[in-house]
Amino acid sequence: MAEIAVIGCGHVGLVAVGCFAALGHQVTAVDVDTRRIELLRRGVPAIYEPGLEDLLRDGVESGRIEARDRYPAELDADFVFLAVGTPSSTGGASDLRAVRDAISALAPTLRPNAVIVNKSTVPIGTGNMIAETALSAGDTSVSVVSNPEFLQEGTAVDNFMNPDRVIVGSDDPDAAERVAQLYEDFGAPILRTDIRTAEMIKYASNAFLATKVSFINEMASICDVVNADVTEVARGMGLDDRIGSKFLRAGIGWGGSCFPKDVASLEHTASMSGAHPQLLRDVVEINKEQRRRIVHKIQTALGGVEGRRIVVLGAAFKPNTDDIRESPALEVSDLLRLAGAEVLVFDPHVSAEKIRVEFPRLTVTPDLIDAIEGTDALVLATEWPAFIDLPLAELALGMRTALFIDGRNAMDARAVREAGFTYRCIGRPGLEGGPLEPVTHIDRSNGVGSDHALASNR
Ligand SMILES: NC(=O)c1ccc[n+]([C@@H]2O[C@H](COP(=O)([O-])OP(=O)(O)OC[C@H]3O[C@@H](n4cnc5c(N)ncnc54)[C@H](O)[C@@H]3O)[C@@H](O)[C@H]2O)c1
Repeated sequence: MAEIAVIGCGHVGLVAVGCFAALGHQVTAVDVDTRRIELLRRGVPAIYEPGLEDLLRDGVESGRIEARDRYPAELDADFVFLAVGTPSSTGGASDLRAVRDAISALAPTLRPNAVIVNKSTVPIGTGNMIAETALSAGDTSVSVVSNPEFLQEGTAVDNFMNPDRVIVGSDDPDAAERVAQLYEDFGAPILRTDIRTAEMIKYASNAFLATKVSFINEMASICDVVNADVTEVARGMGLDDRIGSKFLRAGIGWGGSCFPKDVASLEHTASMSGAHPQLLRDVVEINKEQRRRIVHKIQTALGGVEGRRIVVLGAAFKPNTDDIRESPALEVSDLLRLAGAEVLVFDPHVSAEKIRVEFPRLTVTPDLIDAIEGTDALVLATEWPAFIDLPLAELALGMRTALFIDGRNAMDARAVREAGFTYRCIGRPGLEGGPLEPVTHIDRSNGVGSDHALASNR
């Protein structure tokens, strides 16, 4: 078993801490955020990630996890995993301040022959910069390995333990071999390459996935005008082995902590290096347009949103996480607010405080049932499982106009319509009914439905 340090205890770092400890390694977790470290000492993750709390609690109770809010004089570790944030800065470039700070702080603490393993997503060439900084601290036996992380929030623990592949990039074959051995029991293919190629693999992977989503969203907008069903189109395409079915779900577009900043960073690197990243630019533009399209759809259905009360279901950028970075749900909510709607956001796992930091003008509601009274539209923006099973007929009863916008094509369209809603979705016009389809409010008192048109409820 190895002695491992993990620097940065956010979504990636905490999962690495929990998983390495569960695999029997001795893990020192370091973060400059004192609150995160205090929570970790009690085995509590600072983020919502299914399955993580059990791993952290076990690791802390068994003594395999030690959490520190400052760098020790000597880091007891053969492997130092770097998992600090690399957000976007001006012009899409990656902000590498946390990487630089972490390397400067840890370089003097390393034991001889330690390997710095970089999991943060960094522009091509950063690994070489890390090596130079570490070497300039004096110890010439330190090696650097790029080991990009591919986990997805919401399924991160499983992704870490059962990776599709492991990328190990280094110019030092011995260090690469030592890192590869940490992953050998996972049974996944391990690709050994140079540092710069490993860094590029991470960007190319995320750019490709974002492209797939923007592609199917463009197909959805074509389906809307030619009267075809984009979910069937995606199914038909996905059955082709060369294409595959994943990331072909039309919706309100991609977001989150990785795709936006990684596509922007790659575009920036390409432009600064003299390449012409035309496809990446279009992928980003289509994604922005997708937010505007859903707002337009709501405006068309309601005859304008000024003064309308709209409840947005979901704030997280996807289900099973409380991460709201670049969340499409919140961006759509804010566009609706800017267009004059009264917007109420409800999310089962994201705190109101967290949303207010990013979007201080959005109203967050803790209680969906209270919020629904007098509402004109429900917009499904994050497909949390709890939303799929909502008591729709009951909700429709309290609404002023029962419009349901399925921004994730996640609902059973017929069930939504039978609950009394006028239904709108993405790229499936055949499921939507006519523009002013009457909505049926189910009267629970005598079991008799009463019809009224959407327009008549204004
Ligand atoms: N979140 C994901 O799904 C995901 C997936 C794959 C790769 N990545 C990449 O992994 C990296 C980390 O992402 P994240 O989502 O975990 O970020 P995060 O913001 O959730 O966590 C980063 C952590 O680093 C800490 N930190 C900052 N400066 C530090 C320093 N000098 N020393 C010690 N700790 C410091 C912060 O306090 C924070 O807890 C990024 O480069 C990201 O692109 C993220």
